Amino acid sequence: MLKVNFHNILLIVLGTSLWACKAKNDFQGLEYAPNMYHSVPYEGLSQITDENEGKWLSNREDGLGEYYNSNPNNSNNMNMREPVPNTVKRNENGYLPYRIHKDSAEYAGRVLVNPLDSTAELLAEGKILFGVYCITCHGETGQGDGLVGKVFMGVPPYNLGRVKELPGGQIFHTITHGRGRMMSHASQVTVEERWKITRYVQVLQNQN
Ligand code: HEC
Repeated sequence: MLKVNFHNILLIVLGTSLWACKAKNDFQGLEYAPNMYHSVPYEGLSQITDENEGKWLSNREDGLGEYYNSNPNNSNNMNMREPVPNTVKRNENGYLPYRIHKDSAEYAGRVLVNPLDSTAELLAEGKILFGVYCITCHGETGQGDGLVGKVFMGVPPYNLGRVKELPGGQIFHTITHGRGRMMSHASQVTVEERWKITRYVQVLQNQN
């Protein structure tokens, strides 16, 4: 049994009063000096250079201030600093990460546009890449009769039926995600190389 003396009563009173500060349901709990926990947020990606934007406004009735939107401590009051020299742009060549789901090949065919023109030089590069990555199954003229293709079976000719009509975006999609027993080639050929190969596959589609 706990003895009833001053010490123990103090402990119980302190204990229950601290317990009462605990956050529960809608009550967020009592915080001592909340500014120490919740820093004043800056809009991370804003680059507002208006000097007055960065002023702390504390004329609100509840005594709270509006938060800064530009940063008086950085040059030009910008929140975001200039990237360091020689930073490589994420989308340097206009290629964003490919996010079309693997089951949406037809959709890819409708929306994707090959960013590379079909020049003789580009087709020559596409042909070389095709020779490295695709020819084994699809064969030199895209008939599905490559050395591996003959054994692998079921490799369709590019210039017949449905495959002949595939739009560039869908060919790109097939290289990226694969189809059926054809594996994805995304780890082997870059986005740019895929578009080059696509141009060359289109040449093979159009042969008689
Ligand atoms: C290991 C063998 C193999 C390799 C390597 C291969 N493919 Fe295929 N490819 C196939 C097979 C098998 C199919 C038929 C898939 C199906 O329809 O199930 C196919 C189908 C295709 C199709 C038709 C897709 C459709 O919608 O019917 C295209 C286009 C294609 N491949 C392009 C390529 C390109 C470009 C490369 C090189 C980057 C390549 N393939 C590499 C085996 C291969």
